[in-house]
Amino acid sequence: MRVLVLSDDRWHPAAVAREGLAPLAAQDFTFDWIENAADWSAERMAGYPLVLFVKSNNVSATDERPWMTEEVAAAFVDYVRRGNGLLVVHSGSAGYAEIPLFRALIGGVFNNHPPQCPVTVEPQFGHPLTVGSAPFTVTDEHYMMVLDDADADVFMITISQHGAQPGGWTRLEGAGRVCMLTPGHNVEVWLHPSFQALLGNALRWCASAKRSVFITGADRGLGFGLAVGLLEQGWRVFAGQYMPEWPELGVLARLHPGDLHIVPMDVTSVESARAAAQAVAAQVPHLDMLINNAGVTSPTNARTIREAQDYAEMHRLFDVNALGPLRVVEAFLPLLDRGALKRLCFVSSEAGSITRSYRNAWFGYCMSKAALNMAIKNLFNHLRPEGYTFRVYHPGWIRSYMSGEKNTEADLEPEEAAAYAIPFFINPREDEDRLALVDYQGNEWPW
Ligand SMILES: NC(=O)c1ccc[n+]([C@@H]2O[C@H](COP(=O)([O-])OP(=O)(O)OC[C@H]3O[C@@H](n4cnc5c(N)ncnc54)[C@H](OP(=O)(O)O)[C@@H]3O)[C@@H](O)[C@H]2O)c1
Repeated sequence: MRVLVLSDDRWHPAAVAREGLAPLAAQDFTFDWIENAADWSAERMAGYPLVLFVKSNNVSATDERPWMTEEVAAAFVDYVRRGNGLLVVHSGSAGYAEIPLFRALIGGVFNNHPPQCPVTVEPQFGHPLTVGSAPFTVTDEHYMMVLDDADADVFMITISQHGAQPGGWTRLEGAGRVCMLTPGHNVEVWLHPSFQALLGNALRWCASAKRSVFITGADRGLGFGLAVGLLEQGWRVFAGQYMPEWPELGVLARLHPGDLHIVPMDVTSVESARAAAQAVAAQVPHLDMLINNAGVTSPTNARTIREAQDYAEMHRLFDVNALGPLRVVEAFLPLLDRGALKRLCFVSSEAGSITRSYRNAWFGYCMSKAALNMAIKNLFNHLRPEGYTFRVYHPGWIRSYMSGEKNTEADLEPEEAAAYAIPFFINPREDEDRLALVDYQGNEWPW
């Protein structure tokens, strides 16, 4: 997971946070650093799902001028409201009492601290943010806080001879998440195993606000429409790119910096699927939903059995349409396992329904979609008991590019087809324990 760290002020050199985050950098996190506020911009911040803020209101350690204007504060509020995360540690709460927007975003500010003394940090037992941590005592600046947000979820207190203080809280802002941890003046605090656990939990929690989805075959057609529609609904979209020469995803990425990530993906390649999962894991701690959309047909589909069959093409269709989704599910399961939604979506087709088959040819396409349906059923048998939910979908006849050029005769523009598909993919179903192939009009199809 990539995290943008803002650090370095007169009293808190960046070296402390750098040393304190080193063990986490060796695990799941990649930290990029801003130490001089002049290097900060709203655009740069938008490229990250999460900011770790450990900088009081100085440009840098050597330039004590304040840098946080109301305009900068408004950019932070906007950033979090869009579904990103902000973890504030120790000095990140100092120097902002007179910046109302930023103060309200954190939910409270530093007021003062006595000389360094033994401070006992008491994480609340059983709270999700405190898993793996236990009470500990360290020499630290005991931050005396003004907690403004009465609704903040305080999960940790700090105690010293000077009294008890809120030491850690979370709050929600729009679609995003904010967490405050007040200890951490000395590197010994950061490196304490309990504090490391708190930092790791807080980073993961803050980064998990926005729901995330991977879509295969997102260059054009339905996949592109799904990417546009889910972005509009506030999702973080990882768009599988198969056609780098096709321009639309690039344009979309410029419109949604930080929310649309283009990831190369050829569903016929295990290596490609694994590399894509790794690229996603470098950005976010988990994935909520996977949409297996990529699919192909063939110009030789229409040949009946009285003509020479094109078995090479049938192999290709099978490889993309039936085996492709399996490869992708296999590669992405670890990321989906860590998500709360655990939603697997498959764009199948009416052409895979054996009961209602009317065609006398189209062997490659129909057989590959019927095989896909069988693969989904077996996945369902295994993964439904683990909490996964499934969507199997016929999207209608789409004016897309399956024949190589845009089909202008079909019923639905790709964005219309996406508008039908998205509620089916993201909303709960009444009976998640029954697998069903459902079309864009809500009709269920027999297998
Ligand atoms: N169009 C319909 O009427 C219709 C009806 C029922 C079901 N469906 C299903 O809907 C899904 C989306 O199709 P669509 O109509 O949007 O077609 P589309 O416009 O052709 O979009 C499919 C995308 O997947 C890409 N793709 C092809 N091979 C791939 C691979 N190996 N790895 C990753 N991506 C690959 C395609 O690239 P290329 O263009 O280079 O092949 C294309 O960008 C498919 O599963 C299709 O079977 C479509």
